Amino acid sequence: MELIKQNSPVLFFFNSSKKWLVKISKKEALHTHIGILKHVDAIGKEYGSKITTNKDKYVYLLKPTMYDYIMKIQHGTQIVYPKDLGYIVARAGIQNNQKVVEIGTGSASLTSFVASIVKPRGHVYTFDVDENFMKIAAKNLKKCGMEKYVTQQNLDIKTIKKPPVTDADVVLIDLGDPWTVIPQVRQMLKGSGAIFAICPTMNQLEKLTMSLIENEFTDIESTEHILRTIEAREGKTRHSFQGIGHTTYLCFARKAFFNRDSKKKSAPKSKKISETAKKSISKKEKTKILKSNKKQDLSL
Ligand SMILES: C[S@@+](CC[C@H](N)C(=O)[O-])C[C@H]1O[C@@H](n2cnc3c(N)ncnc32)[C@H](O)[C@@H]1O
Repeated sequence: MELIKQNSPVLFFFNSSKKWLVKISKKEALHTHIGILKHVDAIGKEYGSKITTNKDKYVYLLKPTMYDYIMKIQHGTQIVYPKDLGYIVARAGIQNNQKVVEIGTGSASLTSFVASIVKPRGHVYTFDVDENFMKIAAKNLKKCGMEKYVTQQNLDIKTIKKPPVTDADVVLIDLGDPWTVIPQVRQMLKGSGAIFAICPTMNQLEKLTMSLIENEFTDIESTEHILRTIEAREGKTRHSFQGIGHTTYLCFARKAFFNRDSKKKSAPKSKKISETAKKSISKKEKTKILKSNKKQDLSL
């Protein structure tokens, strides 16, 4: 049985739209429209129990999950929402022990969720150009206890000469023009490593897809994830009137080596690494490879 004590995180849950995320502190009280919630009343109670306000309303004392932290995150920027977070992790195969790179930390919603999956042995390296957003992100990471699994760095990914991280399992990109950083991202990834880009508009998806093919990525997929809430009640279950029309599209791909010879068992050294091979093959040959790959990857 897990009992609530001083400094325990608790979600005071009244209903799905009225809930408060707090850290229990004996002297604190929360003033709400349903009355005053004294933190001290929660101490010694098991998670899942309830406490009553001075207006005779009650809240359940729930143990916060990553979903709760993300939905209550301090926003400095747009964030990635749980409906997309789950798919990103599943499609990219993110798991404990992995090295994940993120370009565009923002408010650290995606960072926090991914850190909670790769921990305790994996790590997230996240880069951002904006120091103010980085401060908000650091606060959010601390709040959900993920700061030790994340390294934040103030860096403009477009200007790097050398990749700050190599051999990454996955690279996540959330900035306005993701197609401009694909060559840098390629240098950071392992062969077959996954990339996910968050693209709020279709124009971004188009430019990004072209850049992914140019830079030898395969298994390219663009998706949109729509979440509909159902109001389930006896005899009158229906879709909720509320809902968000659009958040973002997602673009997934994996690093490949277009010019490796599929017929030979082991390719000659000069053709093994595509970056090196790219220089050694003729322009005509490269155009041919890109054309055939474009046809296959886009099912043209
Ligand atoms: C939409 S926000 C990311 C939100 C984040 N995914 C989240 O879930 O909280 C985009 C971030 O990209 C950062 N950014 C823009 N250009 C960048 C660049 N060239 N290098 C690194 N970060 C960049 C911005 O400062 C901003 O914080």
